Formats: sequence, structure tokens, C-alpha cells
Amino acid sequence: MHITMIGTGYVGLVTGTCFAEFGHTVTCVDKVEEKIEKLKKGVIPIYEPGLDNLVKKNVDEGRLCFTSDLAVSVPFSDAVFIAVGTPSSRRGDGYADLSYIYQAAKEVAPHLNGYTVVVDKSTVPVGTARQVSRIIKETNPSVDIDIASNPEFLREGAAIADFMRPDRVVIGVETERAEDVMREIYKPLYIRDTPIVSTTIETAELAKYAANAFLAVKISFINEIANVCEAVNANVTDIAKAIGMDGRIGSKFLHPGPGYGGSCFPKDTLALMRIVQENGENVRVVEAAVEANSAQKARMVKKIREMLGGSEAGKTIAILGLTFKPETDDMRDAPSATIIPALLEKGAKIKAHDPKGIEEAKHYLPAGIEYVQNAYEAAAEADCVVLMTEWNQYRALDLERIKESMNAPVFVDLRNVYEPQKMKELGFQYMGVGRK
Ligand code: UDX
Repeated sequence: MHITMIGTGYVGLVTGTCFAEFGHTVTCVDKVEEKIEKLKKGVIPIYEPGLDNLVKKNVDEGRLCFTSDLAVSVPFSDAVFIAVGTPSSRRGDGYADLSYIYQAAKEVAPHLNGYTVVVDKSTVPVGTARQVSRIIKETNPSVDIDIASNPEFLREGAAIADFMRPDRVVIGVETERAEDVMREIYKPLYIRDTPIVSTTIETAELAKYAANAFLAVKISFINEIANVCEAVNANVTDIAKAIGMDGRIGSKFLHPGPGYGGSCFPKDTLALMRIVQENGENVRVVEAAVEANSAQKARMVKKIREMLGGSEAGKTIAILGLTFKPETDDMRDAPSATIIPALLEKGAKIKAHDPKGIEEAKHYLPAGIEYVQNAYEAAAEADCVVLMTEWNQYRALDLERIKESMNAPVFVDLRNVYEPQKMKELGFQYMGVGRK
């Protein structure tokens, strides 16, 4: 199959590369020429483990190429995927900003030639695929297209594995012809027995929001249970284990922490709330999860302050990890971007380390932060260490060395990486989440 992938962000680049790995011929298109020039030279604009090698392999084997010119590939494509960004609108009202999607639809229309399936890969409100179809047909009435919705469920940091071994593939189509093309594209997964949920376009669009909202609810739920644990002297890790063993609940996404962040959960929960409200319905559970998530971040500031004896003014805080999760350089809606400014504002001095995210973090965090090379440099002469993101590099720290180099042995572990009892034995004043 010949495929055009519009957008070379986390989703477009991973999806396009993996389709090439399936054996399809893929052209990735992006308006930002600088990005395309870099990709042509093998420079990957994001950090996603394994992606650089997979891009190189597929470019070398002639199945993957990059361009800024839609005319190069769209007329020859069986399917054109739209995988551009759908950030929260700048108005701050929670609506998804669909301007990049509609612009892509307009630009693709004149180049379509012969039967083509135009696929919405980006997370979009219900009804968007139909708008894309309308825009394309208005711009070029002679096109022969079908529209499809094919939401992605990739986790950053594990995107390639998620793509190659998905729990399921969701395809929203309204013609058999489009379904045939989509099934052909995903055939390598089909052979591996991956379930394919073939449904209507609207259902596919909403399924993505429902999945992300459900996971966000699950995280906020365990975060609130963690907070109760602190109040009643219970242990959230054991509770997560106990409830997670119930097959109806499942053990994943029950890790308490500083609140969920990233490119999906925060914006998709808000967008779902708008979709639902516009339709006169309610998703109160999701609203509560969103509120609990904001409160969780604020609660982490309070936790750090309390561990510093009631005030962070004049204290040096070592932050380990800045990105919203490990194995990515993505800072979008990272809890660190809420927690660090709150500490700085009250007079704390911040020394921060992140294995991959420092350059990106500089765009999201205020000035005045000292960025350092490793965890030990961060901890030296600090009054408190805050483990913000559970990078593997922080899982087996030389804790004696950390303790010896600090002003005071205070350790706030927002990801529950370390054992409270062991930390106490080592002489730390230790605080995790939901484990007093
Ligand atoms: C998510 C979805 O998992 C993916 O299917 C979708 O396509 C995009 O959004 P991603 O944002 O990359 O993926 O990361 P994910 O691993 O889901 O984590 C999201 C946030 O939740 C992170 O901030 C993470 O730290 C937090 N989280 C996750 C928890 O706090 N506890 C958990 O148990 C799991």
C-alpha cells in the first residue's frame, strides 16, 4: 500500500515509520521544512526509544521518505493519514483546536487522485471526520474518497511496542471499500491475531476519548485513595495490589503520583467534557477526575513544603525528573511545570536534572532554575530531593552518597520508587505518596 502521513509529531512519525516497517511505502509530510530537512538527514526531532534506528532502517530500505510537498505522494496514495496536532484551543475553554486538521484537509484536497481513504489519526471530537470529508469535497468536488477514523493508543516512551503489539485496532468507516483498505494496511497485525474493532466513524472518534478519560479517572481515583491512606495510615501500594488483582479492575494505571500529565489525558478529558456538554449530557466522573488531578499537583507542593518544615523560602530543592513521564522529552502538562513555579515563587532555589528533557523543559519552566548533569549534582547541598519522574536512572541511586552530600536528608518521592522503611534506616526523612 502507498500511504501519506501528514504530520511528523509523536503520532505521525511513529505511525508512518511502523507502517513502513509493515512493508508499506510511506511518505511523511510536514509543513515545517526545517523538520523535514533534519529527518532527511536522519535527525529525529523527538526522543522516542528505538525510533531513530527504525526510521533509518526503513529509509535505507526505500520504504520511508520525507517531504514538505503533498504533490509528491498524495496523488499516488491508497490512504492519506492526518496526524497533525489537536492541542487545547488557545481560548482556554477546553475545546480542541482543529485548525491544523482543517488546514490539512484543504491542502490535501487538490492533490487527491483516484480512490483514496482519508484517515483521521489525530484525536478529534466526534463529527470531525465528517467535517474533513466536507472540506475536501468542497475544495475538490471531483475527488473519489472515503473517510475513516483510526484513533491511536500509543504511549510515549513505548510507542513502537504499542504500535507493533496493540491490544486492539479501532477502525471507524462507512463503506466496505474503505474497510478493505484499512484492513490491508493493518494486515500484518491481523495475522498476529490483533483484534480489530470495526465500527462507525463517530464510535471510533468517541472510543479514543472514552479510553483516555477512563485511564485518567483510574489515576485520579488511586491518587485520591493515596491521599486517604496518608490520613488513616494505610498503604496505597498494597491497596493497588489488592484491588488490581481483581480481574475486573486490573493492575495497570493504579500508580499514585503527582497527577497525570502529557499530550493526551489533560487535553482529551477537557475536550470530552466540551463534547458532552454541547450534547446536553454529563460526564461528572471525568469532571471530578480533572479537578482531582489539579488538586493533586497542588497537594504535592504542600507535601514538599511540609517536609521542609513549613516554608521553602531560601531552601535548595533538587528535582529529579522534569518530563511528564520517563523515556520521553515531552514536557506538555508535566506536573513539574506546575509544581516548580509554585516553589520558585515562594523563594525556593531549584536545581534540576532530567535525562532527556532539559532542553524542552527550558521552554516550559521559568528562568532561574539551575540545570545540572546528574542526580548527584542536583542533590549536593540541597535541603530536599524531590523525585518527580521515575526515570530508570533514579531507581538505583547511591543513597548514601546522596545523603552525605545534602544539607539535610529530606527525600520526597512523588513516584514511590523507594521503600519507606529502607529510607528511614538509611537516615532519610522520607515521604512518598499514600504510604506514611
Ligand atoms: C496516553 C495513553 O496511555 C495512550 O493510550 C494515548 O494514546 C495517549 O495518552 P501517554 O500520555 O504517552 O499515553 O502516557 P501514559 O503512560 O498513559 O501516562 C500518562 C500520564 O499518567 C503520565 O503523566 C503518567 O505519569 C501518569 N500515570 C500513568 C500515573 O500517574 N499513574 C499511572 O498508574 C499511570
